[in-house]
Amino acid sequence: MKNETPSDRNQGPIFEVLKEVIGDDTVKIFEIGSGSAQHAVFMAPQLKNVVWTTSDVASNQQMIKDVLAKAKVENIKGPFLYEVGKDNFPRVPYDVIFTANTFHIMSWKQCKTLMKELGTRLREGSQVIIYGPFNYNGEFTSESNANFNVWLKERNPESGIRAFEDVNANMIKNGFTLYKDYEMPANNRTLVYTRLDFVK
Ligand SMILES: C[S@@+](CC[C@H](N)C(=O)[O-])C[C@H]1O[C@@H](n2cnc3c(N)ncnc32)[C@H](O)[C@@H]1O
Repeated sequence: MKNETPSDRNQGPIFEVLKEVIGDDTVKIFEIGSGSAQHAVFMAPQLKNVVWTTSDVASNQQMIKDVLAKAKVENIKGPFLYEVGKDNFPRVPYDVIFTANTFHIMSWKQCKTLMKELGTRLREGSQVIIYGPFNYNGEFTSESNANFNVWLKERNPESGIRAFEDVNANMIKNGFTLYKDYEMPANNRTLVYTRLDFVK
């Protein structure tokens, strides 16, 4: 029997959110920090109205290429080389930005850079979907998240579970409104934002 990881178990619920957010619209999705491209490979074949572009930092490009070559999913593109804080955000009018398990890996400075770039590059009505663990009211939402944060910080002191309130304030500052904060399995959340017609 295949060993199921927590991340495999979350794919179904993330897919349900994505389906609800996208509906029947034909959309271009850009994924940031695709990692093993597992979300793209699981979701894109089930979303025929979507073209899904994967991206990641340079060191993950070959892994994604290998996974995509094996998966042969027609509506997945990339990987695009995009390291937040280093590379320019692609000049393509994406409708939906999806990123999973990246905010607690990137430094807070990189998270802020990303939110600023999203505000600059996305047009009114575009959506941003951020999946991962978040803290609320200065508290971890579970003991396992608190332990995970210790592990993250030992690995890289710049990583760490972000406060929902900080992410939300930055998204609002950059022209977004919170559409919905979905509770997900394993003490994770999916934050969905919509770009407003915003004049700085
Ligand atoms: C924990 S993995 C998550 C991978 C995948 N999204 C998932 O949910 O399984 C974090 C990902 O963020 C990427 N990442 C880290 N720093 C980044 C940056 N500055 N810009 C873009 N991606 C970054 C890593 O390369 C890695 O693929």
